[in-house]
Amino acid sequence: MADVSLKQVRKSYGNVEVIKGVDIEIEDGEFVVFVGPSGCGKSTLLRMIAGLEDITSGTLEIGGRVVNDVQPKDRGIAMVFQTYAIFPHMSVRENVAFGLTIAGASKEEKDRKALEAARILQMEHLLDRRPSQLSGGQRQRVAIGRAIVRDPEVFLFDEPLSNLDAALRMDMRMEIGKLHKHLSATMVYVTHDQVEAMTLADKIVVLRDGIVQQIGAPMDLYHNPANLFVAGFIGSPAMNFMDVEVLDQSADGVTVKAPALDPVKLPGVGEAFTANSKAKLGIRPQYLSVAPDTHAGALHGKVALVERLGTETVVNVELTRGGRIVAALAEDRPLELGTDIALGFDPGQAHLFNETNT
Ligand SMILES: Nc1ncnc2c1ncn2[C@@H]1O[C@H](COP(=O)(O)OP(=O)(O)OP(=O)(O)O)[C@@H](O)[C@H]1O
Ligand SMILES: [Mg+2]
Repeated sequence: MADVSLKQVRKSYGNVEVIKGVDIEIEDGEFVVFVGPSGCGKSTLLRMIAGLEDITSGTLEIGGRVVNDVQPKDRGIAMVFQTYAIFPHMSVRENVAFGLTIAGASKEEKDRKALEAARILQMEHLLDRRPSQLSGGQRQRVAIGRAIVRDPEVFLFDEPLSNLDAALRMDMRMEIGKLHKHLSATMVYVTHDQVEAMTLADKIVVLRDGIVQQIGAPMDLYHNPANLFVAGFIGSPAMNFMDVEVLDQSADGVTVKAPALDPVKLPGVGEAFTANSKAKLGIRPQYLSVAPDTHAGALHGKVALVERLGTETVVNVELTRGGRIVAALAEDRPLELGTDIALGFDPGQAHLFNETNT
């Protein structure tokens, strides 16, 4: 069993605290992704699990055993980094088996395990090549192969795909997903990439400034963000926010208005709001659509920027009554800059946040 448990984990460099009391429970076999802005502490946290950084205070358990003071090599983990540290003078086979060489394994064992890892990663035909004869994606496979031969209970990945081009990233992303199913090992994965986080994770941990903001399944975070930060961080393009005034709260919803928005009732928003208070309305770009001009409650404006992506069209709209809003419209739409546009949204899909709930 290799569940990983962090309890009130803290890390300071000198008198600067970068991890500020983190609690995370990772179950055996789970795929957990850490996301958050640059500098929020993702790598530091991963390196603390690996044993490459000391833990200033708190407890780290792997498989039910406190490992705060256990050497990295004795933690049952293997780590894959963004820059794949593979040796140019060694063949793929030797690179993959490197950890076993260090541990003094026999040639037979090294060859057998290197071949097994190569099979899993579909690179048997590359075993006798040198790294210089490999593509970026193949080199990253070698680095992952090196982790596999160590047969760890927990894999730690720190942005393993961020040096690869878009097509390779997609291949490798699927490869890592398959690897997780095949090995059923616990995996902890740091990424900047929303698609990687949403598709690979059983559970996403959103970090900000060394503090956990929310932990949940990808769609849980997408549909029920705990605060403004998570709402703005998860989803692309980012959620639109509009300052609104709360007019009324009743059993069937909260009525809000803004300079650019006529009063609208939002059913099913969770928290308690009081009349005459300020709040932030959140609308995902995907839930905006082009409305007929006459549509009540529509947001009127002019097209300020158009990004045609083929599958969708991202439109930046300058609202007539103040503010901007981004809509992600389904399909390709050749909209002209400066044309009038009215956008409607389903109030049932909107979010409302207290000003304090940042
Ligand atoms: N050795 C160190 N000494 C002092 N501060 C450090 C050290 N290593 C990291 N930090 C600081 O700790 C914070 C967290 O860094 P970390 O590398 O964990 O961020 P990250 O979330 O992985 O960011 P990125 O997405 O850019 O990789 C940053 O503010 C960083 O400057
Ligand atoms: Mg990092």
